[in-house]
Amino acid sequence: IHRIIIDCDPGHDDMAAILLAAWHPSIKLEAITTVCGNAPLNHTTNNALRIVDAFGLDVPVYAGAEQPLLHRYAFPAEFHGPSGLDSAGEDLPPARGTVQTQHAVDTIIERVEAAPGEITLVVIGPMTNLALALALRPSLAQKLRQVVFMGGSATEGNVTPAAEFNVWADAEAARIVFRSGVRLVMFGLNATHQTLMRREDVAKIRAAQPGSNPVADIMDFYCGTYFRFAGADKPGAPMHDPCAIAYLIEPTIFELTERPGEVLVSADGGYGQTLIDMRPQDPAHDTRVKNVAVAIKADPIRFAALVTEALSWAAGR
Ligand code: BDR
Ligand code: CA
Repeated sequence: IHRIIIDCDPGHDDMAAILLAAWHPSIKLEAITTVCGNAPLNHTTNNALRIVDAFGLDVPVYAGAEQPLLHRYAFPAEFHGPSGLDSAGEDLPPARGTVQTQHAVDTIIERVEAAPGEITLVVIGPMTNLALALALRPSLAQKLRQVVFMGGSATEGNVTPAAEFNVWADAEAARIVFRSGVRLVMFGLNATHQTLMRREDVAKIRAAQPGSNPVADIMDFYCGTYFRFAGADKPGAPMHDPCAIAYLIEPTIFELTERPGEVLVSADGGYGQTLIDMRPQDPAHDTRVKNVAVAIKADPIRFAALVTEALSWAAGR
């Protein structure tokens, strides 16, 4: 059993990650913390509450950072819509539940300190909350079991030629995390561009619940925007965030390699780029400090089967 906290900015693929975690018996989702990222904090928090309510999840939601540490940018409404969780048809109902009064950063610290070595933090938005937690309590790096995150890339970017959105949105925060000594498992674009939500997957999710089906409608919005950007000939839209959860459930879906990694924060075109040292070296003489396990390969068929099953379950709730 993995005891996890999901730190997120829902977000279509964030929703898929939350549902995958809620669905699978090997995951104990103990809290959801939110951050500004795909949309302003009030939206991402509201979306997390709507997800928890709509699917009857018994998980508390804590709001986190309202701004990145230094970076300022316009929210990318073109991918997730102005709400952060736009639908091509029906929306999730308005939230009934309310956000916890404790701050996300405080709950992360409190929960990890109460169970040293046990909690996995799954970060699928910008790393602002974790960076703040590490600034308040550097020893958290040793107390976290691991940080499994979606962000960065060992190859191409998406928001710039070099940078992936989550790391770019708060590159200073990501740099703090990369230098903290915490155990890092990275799902960057080089891996998540292999894990797709295909048209046939959305069709299966729709068939699981005839009639009203906001899960399928929300995935239709996400795929629709992606196809508009990348071309309608693409087989599917990348399901970035669920990779981090799929890895905990079925690690053999992915191939990983231990690497030295760093985050660039210079103001030139490299801002937010993860610099992963992929150079091969003679293992006998390799003295590099390897601070991150980088996913390099995914089994798209097993991944799609897992996510489609979880979302079909959710659609029927
Ligand atoms: C990441 O950015 C967001 O748009 C997605 O939710 C994902 O976390 C992909 O670059
Ligand atoms: Ca996200």
